[in-house]
Amino acid sequence: MKHTAITLSVNGQEYALTVAPNRTLLDVLRDDLSLTGTKKGCDEGTCGACTVIIDGKLALGCMVLAIRCRGKTIETIEGLAQNGTLHPLQQAAIDKNAVQCGFCTPGWLLAAKVLLENHPHPSRGEVKTAIAGNLCRCTGYTKIEDAILAAADAEER
Ligand code: FES
Ligand code: FES
Repeated sequence: MKHTAITLSVNGQEYALTVAPNRTLLDVLRDDLSLTGTKKGCDEGTCGACTVIIDGKLALGCMVLAIRCRGKTIETIEGLAQNGTLHPLQQAAIDKNAVQCGFCTPGWLLAAKVLLENHPHPSRGEVKTAIAGNLCRCTGYTKIEDAILAAADAEER
């Protein structure tokens, strides 16, 4: 299979890569760039563990070909903390005990980031809708919702 040279912009950093046309963004992030914070759950678009942000919009890394990401801005969980300081959503996740095994956490944190950017004061119902695509087998969702609502309050102060 013919490989293609591409440049990916991930968390503000440019990466030059050569990839096969059938490789997903998820696999390239994890295997080529060692950005393993983006998780592989189902690998078929149903669990949300591989959630990333592409040009400001949520996307499932397992459903996007890496070569389609040329010239786009990609954000992953590794880019959420800034200069060693946790994002308010990350801090709220800790404070509200919203992390158990942590496998779903990167995905819902990024879903919540996009939610709060577009709706800084969401209702609990809007939070539930925003993370509906992020399956968690541990927390039962209430603590995750509490964390997102707490982060919204924290950003207001
Ligand atoms: S790994 Fe992509 S949606 Fe499950
Ligand atoms: S904390 Fe384990 S799947 Fe969500």
